[in-house]
Amino acid sequence: SVYDCTIIELDKHHHPKGNITVIENGVDVPFDVRRVYYLYDVPGGESRGGHAHYKLRQLIVAASGSFDVVVDDGKVKRTFTLNRPYQGLLIVPGLWRELENFSSGSVCLVLASMEYDEADYIRDYERFIYYRRDGKN
Ligand code: TYD
Repeated sequence: SVYDCTIIELDKHHHPKGNITVIENGVDVPFDVRRVYYLYDVPGGESRGGHAHYKLRQLIVAASGSFDVVVDDGKVKRTFTLNRPYQGLLIVPGLWRELENFSSGSVCLVLASMEYDEADYIRDYERFIYYRRDGKN
């Protein structure tokens, strides 16, 4: 459910010349990272996401700027505002998600547990609700 999504405090090396946050496989992320991608140059007012995954687990980080992540398990919606480069939102499988309210210049960094696979997506909300209710496609 949405209550399985949590904010992970990532490690943070403070330095007068700039900070560093490190994410290591098996140390800071509760899954094996198979893919990294990042979303940037999102036009003002635009939203992203609008789908669910059957299996994919993700850690989402606002590497720069801020945005909101709305997760939805078909019953409950929760909104997380990400605005710290040293915090990651863990998203479990089977949740509908929308990313919105991107600040200008924001960068959404995503660490993912699987390679890209279109077959892992549920892109239709009614089908998602049906899947959550009956556990079928
Ligand atoms: P999508 O995951 O739908 O974007 P978002 O959730 O950010 O709105 O991906 C948009 C397109 O980008 C998708 O149609 C295919 C492509 N894509 C890849 O080819 N590989 C990837 O790893 C990702 C995440 C997307």
